[in-house]
Amino acid sequence: MIVLAADHGGYTLKEEVKKHLDAKGVQYIDCGCYNGESVDYPDMAKQACEKIQSGEAEKGLLFCGSGVGISIAANKMKGIRCCCCSDTFSAKYTRLHNDANVLAMGGRIVGPGLAIEMIELFLNTEFEGGRHSRRVEKLMALED
Ligand code: RB5
Repeated sequence: MIVLAADHGGYTLKEEVKKHLDAKGVQYIDCGCYNGESVDYPDMAKQACEKIQSGEAEKGLLFCGSGVGISIAANKMKGIRCCCCSDTFSAKYTRLHNDANVLAMGGRIVGPGLAIEMIELFLNTEFEGGRHSRRVEKLMALED
């Protein structure tokens, strides 16, 4: 199960991504927003990341205008490792090396084609472990 959330700047891209996930039969929880009216990205990040913290979802996809605000908000929540991406290399390596559990994208930067390529890599790439485990452990220790 994955969780999705967007503010108004990411709403259109979220809806495009949902069409792709529906076509592939990927299950998701959509935490909103549900139209293009203005909402605050920290509220949207919080709702989605709580689903990961509770175990209802394993990974998350977040969207705002730039992808930056919503990724900063997500990274303030315990247990969340969110990467804001606009290239496929980062989307793949944030799984391989950082064990990222949330991918953020900018609806005003990234088109649906690139977003879907990044999402496929993000969802289907396993964490490499090994020397990266120690680094991710140190990363998470920064929360304390
Ligand atoms: C909203 O206008 C915009 O600030 C937001 O979507 C995002 O880009 C913030 O980082």
